[in-house]
Amino acid sequence: MDKNIEYIRSLIKENEDTYIFRKQEEKNYIPIIRPEVMQFISVIINIAGIKKILEIGTADGYSSICFCKTIGRDADVTTIESDEQRVCTARKNIESFNLNKNITVIHDDAVNALLYMTGQNVFDMIFLDGPKTHYLEMLPGCVRLLKEGGILIADNVLYFGMTSGQKEIPKKKRTSAYHLRDFLEAVSHSSELDTSIINFEDGLSISVKKGKKINEKT
Ligand SMILES: C[S@@+](CC[C@H](N)C(=O)[O-])C[C@H]1O[C@@H](n2cnc3c(N)ncnc32)[C@H](O)[C@@H]1O
Repeated sequence: MDKNIEYIRSLIKENEDTYIFRKQEEKNYIPIIRPEVMQFISVIINIAGIKKILEIGTADGYSSICFCKTIGRDADVTTIESDEQRVCTARKNIESFNLNKNITVIHDDAVNALLYMTGQNVFDMIFLDGPKTHYLEMLPGCVRLLKEGGILIADNVLYFGMTSGQKEIPKKKRTSAYHLRDFLEAVSHSSELDTSIINFEDGLSISVKKGKKINEKT
């Protein structure tokens, strides 16, 4: 592991219960959010006063549970997962953390789910952590569902250097790398978003939907 990342991780304060959960997930090779990314998002949640989150890619519920721990009792997280087994495990984990009232797990393909979630200006934050080849396809739905001043975060966008071409792209990873390139072009050039791409390990993009602030009264 990169020495800086190792050092940054050593400084992160974690709740004991989510720490145990994270270690168990890592032991089982579940691809959960990296601790430094979770810590970064927690700070963003606190700065922006985020309460209502949509997540694409639940896995076993680890990141949703961490979001709730950061927000507290007003947390309202909707998370979408296509894998049935993971949906069951996530629901069990959410129950064991007593967060049933705060987290709704939707079992569906996120591309499909975004089509029937027809609202506008609903969420304070959307976290894209699902299928990399579909980030671009999901972007219009995400922008529509995001409140003005809301934040869109997409994880793993630099794909270990393959998106930029810093690292040679093996044939089987080309589709994902090229899709991520298109996604980053779109969020960077969108007239509705202001975007920053962060060169964390695997990359992270953070975009704010232009307009008023999330909690600003009209
Ligand atoms: C990186 S994991 C999510 C990790 C989770 N956010 C966390 O940090 O605890 C990505 C998840 O997206 C799910 N996924 C992949 N394609 C999907 C799709 N089209 N719709 C919904 N979920 C999808 C995978 O099954 C996997 O569980």
